[in-house]
Amino acid sequence: MAKFTLDVNGEKRTVEVAADTPLLWVLRDHLQLTGTKYGCGVGLCGSCTVLVNGEAERSCSLPVSQVVGKNILTVEGLGGHHPVQEAFVAEDVPQCGYCQSGQVMQAVALLSAKPKPTAEQIAAAMGDVLCRCGTYDRIARAIARVARR
Ligand code: FES
Ligand code: FES
Repeated sequence: MAKFTLDVNGEKRTVEVAADTPLLWVLRDHLQLTGTKYGCGVGLCGSCTVLVNGEAERSCSLPVSQVVGKNILTVEGLGGHHPVQEAFVAEDVPQCGYCQSGQVMQAVALLSAKPKPTAEQIAAAMGDVLCRCGTYDRIARAIARVARR
C-alpha cells in the first residue's frame, strides 16, 4: 500500500491503496464517485470512461500510479448541466442508463477535440462505448445538437 494524491474534478484527494489498483476502484470505493460504472473490467465496454488530461481513458484498466499529477475528470465533475449532459436529456438518450456516464465522458472528449464532428467522426469516436440498450442513434443526435450550438 502507498499514498497517492490525485487531482479529481479539480480537488486534491489522497488515497492509500496498492499501486496497481485500477483508477475505477479508487473513484468508486475510496472517493465515493460512483457515477463511473463497472462494466467488463477489461477495457472493452467503455462504461468506466473518465477523462485524464482531457483524453478519454478506461479507468478499469488504468493503475492509480499512472494518473498521479494528471487532471482526472469524472461525470460528477461535469456538474449536471454540461452542454453534453443537457443534450443527452433533450434527446432523451438514456434507456437503462448504465452506460451513460461513459458515453457522456467519451462525447465530452470528442467535442473538445473536434467541436464540429461529422457523422462519421461521431460514429468512429463513440462506437467502442457499448450500449446494450442500443441508444447509439440518440447519442449521435445529442452530440450533433451540441455541435450546432
Ligand atoms: S469496465 Fe472499463 S472498459 Fe468495461
Ligand atoms: S442505456 Fe442501457 S446500456 Fe446504454
